[in-house]
Amino acid sequence: MTNIETPGTGQPGVDVKQLHDIARGYVKTALLRTALELRLFDPLADGQRTASELAAHTDVHPRGMRILLDALAAIGLLHARGGGRYALPRGGEHLLVSTSPRFFGGAVRLGASDWEWDAQKHLIDAVRHGGTVAATHALTPEFDYWEEFATSTSWFNNGAAELMTEQLLPWAAERDSVDVLDIACSHGSYGFTFAKAEPRATITGLDWPNVLEITRRHAERLGLADRFRTISGDMFKTPLGGPYDLVMLTNVLHHFSQEEATELLRHAATAVKPGGRIAVVGHTTDEDDTPHTNPLPYMFSVIMLVQTHEGETHSVDTYKRMLTDAGFVNPTDHRSEAAMHRLFLADRA
Ligand SMILES: C[S@@+](CC[C@H](N)C(=O)[O-])C[C@H]1O[C@@H](n2cnc3c(N)ncnc32)[C@H](O)[C@@H]1O
Repeated sequence: MTNIETPGTGQPGVDVKQLHDIARGYVKTALLRTALELRLFDPLADGQRTASELAAHTDVHPRGMRILLDALAAIGLLHARGGGRYALPRGGEHLLVSTSPRFFGGAVRLGASDWEWDAQKHLIDAVRHGGTVAATHALTPEFDYWEEFATSTSWFNNGAAELMTEQLLPWAAERDSVDVLDIACSHGSYGFTFAKAEPRATITGLDWPNVLEITRRHAERLGLADRFRTISGDMFKTPLGGPYDLVMLTNVLHHFSQEEATELLRHAATAVKPGGRIAVVGHTTDEDDTPHTNPLPYMFSVIMLVQTHEGETHSVDTYKRMLTDAGFVNPTDHRSEAAMHRLFLADRA
């Protein structure tokens, strides 16, 4: 979303078009969700099509299809060509077509899910209360939302998982063993990306039991089942086993206040060998970020507000402080063009 500057003031302004757009933002969500559910973009991978061809292909009413297609073109998700034909927008062949390795459908299934939307309907209550008021939320044991997350969302972690692997390989090469604990592992992408590159690595994934069923299937698909073990239960309380050379804690500390996140890091530290390492990944804000210059982490905090009691995006400094408060030393932060999230590494003294 762009803020329009009020001329001469340098301050962001607001106008009627922008307000209409925000008020009906949910229509865009519904359009994208519907088009993906119909697999509407797939036949366009082979070339332009008319509304009636697409209606027949997807078995929907021609009038419904005509209105859907024009609306998708209106929001930039299709290219309306002459002669009533429609084509994919630039990049659509990668992100919108279900056979592409970068297909974004899984992320939409989660981000545009009833779970997320139902939670946002109660934003006002979460704002009043300072956290979720829902009976079921991200911290609820075995929340079925996390099954969809483990199923759908792995590839957009690829950038950060590859960055982590790249940073850790030279360190791992110096060690006699490379036993890894991936806490709140979900899809397992971080551990599995590392294990693919470091053949000596063994991965222990911790999560709720319903999620671990999905993680195990990913391990089998990747040919890593013989190097993958699981621990099911509450990551704050369950004995972690080990000790491990490396503990991963990715995209999870933002579910908690700084105090709770530090407590979790302390628990993790008990499972790290002396001289071992922790790798943490998360959305962050930088010291000079503002909601205007870097909107994403501030918008992400709204998801945490409705889904958790005290979670939000933490700053880079906060991550480093939490790591040192939990007994780790030499925290460093890393990012790359491809990584949506920041990587932190720290050592166990
Ligand atoms: C946002 S996902 C992070 C997944 C993955 N590490 C990543 O980087 O994408 C959070 C995961 O934490 C798990 N989880 C949440 N609370 C938990 C708890 N108390 N004990 C164990 N797992 C938990 C959820 O089931 C989910 O798989």
